[in-house]
Amino acid sequence: MSQVTRYHPILVILHWLLAFFIIMALAMGYFVMSQTPNSAPEKLEMLRGHMAGGMLILALMVLRFVVRWMTSHPPQATTGNAALDRFAPLTHYGFYILVVLMAGTGFATALAAGLPAIVFGNSGDPLPETFLTFPTRIAHGYIAAAIAALLALHVAAALYHQFVLKDSLFRRMFFGKRKV
Ligand code: HEM
Repeated sequence: MSQVTRYHPILVILHWLLAFFIIMALAMGYFVMSQTPNSAPEKLEMLRGHMAGGMLILALMVLRFVVRWMTSHPPQATTGNAALDRFAPLTHYGFYILVVLMAGTGFATALAAGLPAIVFGNSGDPLPETFLTFPTRIAHGYIAAAIAALLALHVAAALYHQFVLKDSLFRRMFFGKRKV
């Protein structure tokens, strides 16, 4: 594939859309949804938004993986430190794996608790008292913490490139002329 200086515009859109949706899902899930008892009237609406949003994140992540594979992208950014340079792609693949696990454990919890019928089918059945009796729900919480930690590392690394190494890394994940 030909040498380019930026990612494909579809990847740029998917990157920033996913960043927004994943941060929203983490924040809403941790600060709002898990703090709201299942007996609260607004819980059904929250679950509807969270489950639909989570499945959308998974679909966009799969699309992103395919587009990344099909388009040419800039050479790997370097820090000048071989160990750090080897670590970077591992963290990037880590995002794909953790997001798939996040959606998988969320989906499995929803199935185990009968949520598709309650939340989307308006069956009128009550929600279980808590979701924390499901091992998949416990895993969902731990994976959320792992994604948040990886996100913090990812942002710190991007800022280090941009402001300490001054290699204009952000340009690569933005629109503009791609061909050298
Ligand atoms: C991939 C993106 C997703 C992210 C970032 C995400 C994030 C979160 C977070 C942060 C929590 C609270 C965890 C805690 O405080 O321990 C949560 C809870 C939950 N999520 Fe997700 N989630 C995602 C996908 C899904 C999907 C696809 C479903 C179902 C189809 C789902 C269903 C649930 C359920 C049922 C809860 C429990 C709510 C409660 O305890 O009140 N999630 N999610």
